[in-house]
Amino acid sequence: MTKLLPRRAFVKTGSLASAAVFASSAPRVHAGENNLLRIGMVGCSGRGRGAVLNAFEADPNCKLVAVGDVLPDRTQKTVELFNKVKPDRVDIKPDHVFVGLDCCKNVAQACDVVFSVEIPAFRPWTLKAAVEAGKHIFAEKPAAVDALGVKVAQAACDEAKKKKLNLVSGLCWRYDPELQEIMKRIHDGLIGDVVTVRECLLTQHGFKRPVAQGDTAMQREIRAWYNLRWLSGDFIVEQTVHAIDKGLWALGDKFQPLSAFGVGGRMSRTAQPDRGDIYDSMGVGYNMAEGRTMNTFCRQQQNCWYEYDGYVVGTKGYTNTVGKTVVMCDLNGKVLFEQKRLRLKSSYVEEQRALFTAIRSGGAMYINNGDYMCRATMAAILCRQAVYSGNLLTWEEAMQTGGIDLSKLNLNSEPPIQPDEKGRFKIPVPGLGEVWHTVVR
Ligand SMILES: NC(=O)c1ccc[n+]([C@@H]2O[C@H](COP(=O)([O-])OP(=O)(O)OC[C@H]3O[C@@H](n4cnc5c(N)ncnc54)[C@H](O)[C@@H]3O)[C@@H](O)[C@H]2O)c1
Repeated sequence: MTKLLPRRAFVKTGSLASAAVFASSAPRVHAGENNLLRIGMVGCSGRGRGAVLNAFEADPNCKLVAVGDVLPDRTQKTVELFNKVKPDRVDIKPDHVFVGLDCCKNVAQACDVVFSVEIPAFRPWTLKAAVEAGKHIFAEKPAAVDALGVKVAQAACDEAKKKKLNLVSGLCWRYDPELQEIMKRIHDGLIGDVVTVRECLLTQHGFKRPVAQGDTAMQREIRAWYNLRWLSGDFIVEQTVHAIDKGLWALGDKFQPLSAFGVGGRMSRTAQPDRGDIYDSMGVGYNMAEGRTMNTFCRQQQNCWYEYDGYVVGTKGYTNTVGKTVVMCDLNGKVLFEQKRLRLKSSYVEEQRALFTAIRSGGAMYINNGDYMCRATMAAILCRQAVYSGNLLTWEEAMQTGGIDLSKLNLNSEPPIQPDEKGRFKIPVPGLGEVWHTVVR
């Protein structure tokens, strides 16, 4: 049986453990004059702009020096915006503005820290380019959208370890100080050995990103990326990966799912082509080693119950993880620990603080979040494939589901997935495979 992640991936992924391993052969900090760290953005995204502002807050001596995107209007808007709001933290020369599907290669050459904040499908190839250029990385989630991409991403993360390049993942719950405290108590055994986890991400957002007019066919689909499976991975991979990672973390990062099954569909996301080919609801059961289980429910529909919390059951008690109040109880309901979530610190800023502190430590505080980032992404892909197929799917089978090699595309390529002449995308239907959607609204 082949496994994505070697046993060592489950031993310890924390920065302190890694620091001990890597401290002896620490790399030189890639900082220029006055110890300035230069940031390059791949993808002029909303989150990316936020992440750079978070980095400015976390580290007083970093600057944005390069940007890249596939859409020229996005690079232009980003340069204008930063020059307006943070003129002293920006130094983007005209020849450091790049446009193209592979702009990551140029951005990586022009900076010290690559921010991989483009749409998810291209992330594996940005990670690869950044590591080849020898640069530190901030990588938004997810790591990829298909099994092929996860393999490329994991290989890049492993290579980053060899080169002592720091890599922080945008799975930001990991940097939430209040959740860190809850996880520490779980891992210290307050509720015993964790046997089952339930994660919910039931939201009401519709995320309408219409297939716009103009540009090339590729750019049109990229503008509509969220609703297209080949670009976002579906909402379970794009968004629920946060919750899945939280569940795997509660299990101590010691287990990857053995298999999964699930149900799901498109109940409200029906309009074509604007609502693309992704689902809006899924419920999945994971089977883990030693009889453990994890369940995940996610939904993006209006006027329904909102829930974004985790529920962890151990041999001695139970707890939720991120509600307004977190209450840890023993099996008789006696409260063992209570935490009112005050959100005094932003996990977005804390993740940047961790990255820049690690870079400046010259190896002593080395960080590489690649293992849990790729594991959670692949677990989300396993869910999606199990739901689409209507089958019980093993981890190994999901790893064989392949994917699209985006490194071979350019802006003038025909998008690999396109609607038919009526503007309909093929939709996966459990038990039936991929069929043309029958409703056009
Ligand atoms: N951690 C979080 O809480 C959080 C929150 C929001 C978004 N995100 C993640 O951040 C990323 C960006 O999301 P967003 O909603 O801000 O996106 P967005 O739609 O605002 O921007 C995405 C940008 O990426 C560009 N792009 C597409 N392909 C590219 C390529 N090959 N090279 C360079 N640029 C490319 C697009 O043209 C677009 O400008 C996604 O991975 C998303 O999942 C994370």
